[in-house]
Amino acid sequence: MDPINRDRLLRELTDFLRIPSVSTNASHNADCRAAAEWVAGELRRLGCREVQFLASGTHPVVWGVGPEVPGAPTLLIYGHYDVQPPEPLDEWTTPAFEPTVRDGKLFARGAADDKGQVFCLLKAIEAQSGRPPVNFRFLIEGEEEYGSRVLFELLRREPERTRADAVLIADMAYIAPRWPAVYTTLRGLCYAEISVRTAKSDLHSGEFGGAAPNAHEELARLLGRLKTPDGKVHIPGLYASVKRPSKVELATWKRLPFREGEFLKHRVQAKALTGLKSYSVLERLWALPTFEIHGITGGFTGDGAKTVIPAEATAKVSLRLVPDQKLKAVERQLAAAVRRFAPKHVQASVKFLHGADPATVKVTHPAFKLLDQAFREVVGRGTVPARAGGSIPVVPALGKGGAPVILTGIGLPDDRLHAPNEKLDLKQLWDGVRVFGRFYELLGTMDIS
Ligand code: BES
Ligand code: MN
Ligand code: MN
Repeated sequence: MDPINRDRLLRELTDFLRIPSVSTNASHNADCRAAAEWVAGELRRLGCREVQFLASGTHPVVWGVGPEVPGAPTLLIYGHYDVQPPEPLDEWTTPAFEPTVRDGKLFARGAADDKGQVFCLLKAIEAQSGRPPVNFRFLIEGEEEYGSRVLFELLRREPERTRADAVLIADMAYIAPRWPAVYTTLRGLCYAEISVRTAKSDLHSGEFGGAAPNAHEELARLLGRLKTPDGKVHIPGLYASVKRPSKVELATWKRLPFREGEFLKHRVQAKALTGLKSYSVLERLWALPTFEIHGITGGFTGDGAKTVIPAEATAKVSLRLVPDQKLKAVERQLAAAVRRFAPKHVQASVKFLHGADPATVKVTHPAFKLLDQAFREVVGRGTVPARAGGSIPVVPALGKGGAPVILTGIGLPDDRLHAPNEKLDLKQLWDGVRVFGRFYELLGTMDIS
């Protein structure tokens, strides 16, 4: 792509990234709506016959139907315009919603997850000379980072929206620089709040300390019981439906450009890795369930000192699920474990916020070969099959109609998704525009009879 075009595209992407479309936070509802408008504008510009906002006033699903090409394959493009909260703000070198290029990288919340990649898929439609002979459908949602409830409901009511010859999602990364990937599984998610109440109200820690129960202490003990120090999630029944990867699959992981030591030193940047030592790190990341604590509130956390025994404390937690676990079963198992581990004098409760089943995709459909070829031609290497540790809730629903769901992406492993200083390498973006442009062109020749 020529430099003039690149300047224009960079300006356009910057406009998109400037919108703080944080879906989990109601104070950003108008921003989510503005991001949806931005997407709708692009779809209209691409000549979509039909551009609609579906299912929600604040976080609409943007639906588009591209120009009709009789007899050509139908490709459904899925992505999301919402982003995760930018906090902690003071750790950003430049502000999260003031996109800035440094050293060939574009820094902003959403640069890689997923606005930059949605942008890439859209701009690729015009990248080749001549329109690709493909019937495009677009489903760009605004609640992915909050569990995709609206889109779930929509697809349950209107499954025909997913009728296509293939579904394309670019919401992940290469598995290493110069190593593009297609993903065969995504983990599921079970997000919950665990609350404990130990008394009617907070108590003076001098008058009552030593004889009254403390909600934070009880919560800490309860959380401590849900995972053993060696990293095993201690929820009865949790591992029963976990399917171990085949020997063949495990052997292919050994050949991937992934080194545990490097992962610790450059990506995790901690003193040690944790988790079940008898499994490889990739198996821990891709094929085993997890239990993580995201934050704990309650008691006194303000400036200064206050001597109080908190009566209530809440932890936000989540479990990642792997094939063949089911969200509904895991919810029951977590609730039962909390009931069982909480002492009688503690009132414990679990509230489920959102979740997703794990997804499995067979990568045998001819469309995968075409993507492989496009990457091979443009970046010099085809796609390696890999698994993903993250989740995209609607993927199982998108595949229900029988179309192959192609999970890929142009990010890099060090893009810092959901964290401060998220970025997208511009080289990845420009390559990506050519890769997907070529993919559309190839897909146009696919036999769908
Ligand atoms: N793009 C990610 C999912 C992802 C990240 C897949 C890395 C593979 C590798 C997506 O936007 C995401 O963050 N999903 C959430 C879903 C949740 C909030 C329901 C996630 O995984 O935490
Ligand atoms: Mn994403
Ligand atoms: Mn995300």
